[in-house]
Amino acid sequence: MAVDYLRLSLTDRCNLNCIYCTPMEKEGFLAHDQLLRHEEIARAAAAFVRAGVTKIRLTGGEPLVKKNIVGLVKMLRAIPGLRELALTTNGLLLPELAVPLREAGLSRLNISLDTLNEDNFKRITGSAGLSKVLDGIAAALAAGYEDTKLNMVVMKRVNDAEVPAFARLSLDRPLTVRFIEFYPANARSARLGDALYTTAETKRLIEDSVGALRELPPEPGGGPARVCALAGAAGKIGFISGRSSYFCGACNRVRMDCTGKVYPCLYSPATHDLKDLLRGGASDDALADYLKKIFLVKSKYRKDSGTAGHVEMSSLGG
Ligand code: GTP
Ligand code: 5AD
Repeated sequence: MAVDYLRLSLTDRCNLNCIYCTPMEKEGFLAHDQLLRHEEIARAAAAFVRAGVTKIRLTGGEPLVKKNIVGLVKMLRAIPGLRELALTTNGLLLPELAVPLREAGLSRLNISLDTLNEDNFKRITGSAGLSKVLDGIAAALAAGYEDTKLNMVVMKRVNDAEVPAFARLSLDRPLTVRFIEFYPANARSARLGDALYTTAETKRLIEDSVGALRELPPEPGGGPARVCALAGAAGKIGFISGRSSYFCGACNRVRMDCTGKVYPCLYSPATHDLKDLLRGGASDDALADYLKKIFLVKSKYRKDSGTAGHVEMSSLGG
């Protein structure tokens, strides 16, 4: 499968402190000079596009806490050959940023939200803010983004009871509500124990309590999500089953973390470091050639290839 999709993490910082994501104190955050600067990010992104990438998704941490994110989006949007520029956010800053980001050229937004209950929001994220996220979702819908998605990580005993309420959000809003299997990626999430609530369980709960799901054909380049819809719904429902299913053969993506390390696979160790090349005066051609070589060996790295490393979602962006 050709690599044409880059998940680009801009920062490991976040304005929330979620129970399954933010590193525990001893693991800590990265020092400022370890992070790539705007110009370095834009140069790296342009090299990925020269190497074959046509879609970039900005992630974090929380990408909207990156200083002057609107300016950075403008710089990235100007890369010739980049077809789609998307971003995944927790939504807290969308009430003020949805419109300026759209004007800067961002095409799509995925918003992460795991609960519709204020107490549960505090328990999962460590702070208040549910109403801001809900306002952020409304702002995204009003700003005219294409195909906005809502991501819920389903966790047993934490938020599984809210699955039907999330599914119902797709009835009257033109949103794709996606249910993601929990992945115990770092030490903090591992402390939740086996909180996996599988796609099969989630589907059964929706069908028993909301209504039958009609399977929709996979979208071209649509990634690991399987998409369905409830009868008469304005929106759709998606399932990302990273634990209970296997889609490595169809994977078209690579990742770069906020320090410039390139990961051919979510489950691989960082195999290459672009920062040294960027700071060492490499030419644009040399950067692109270096990335093309990584893309060629990507298929060696898979969920089951025994290459799994320690993944910190906060710096790698999921
Ligand atoms: P679209 O561009 O809308 O298809 O977005 P996306 O699903 O690629 O991105 P998003 O940031 O919304 O990711 C949603 C969830 O899917 C996160 O939990 C990611 O970790 C997970 N995810 C994305 N890509 C992969 C992948 O290649 N493998 C696995 N296992 N999970 C993935
Ligand atoms: N398991 C599953 N999904 C996760 N995400 C972050 N950490 C995990 C995890 N441990 C999701 C976020 C966001 C997306 C980028 O990744 O909720 O929607």
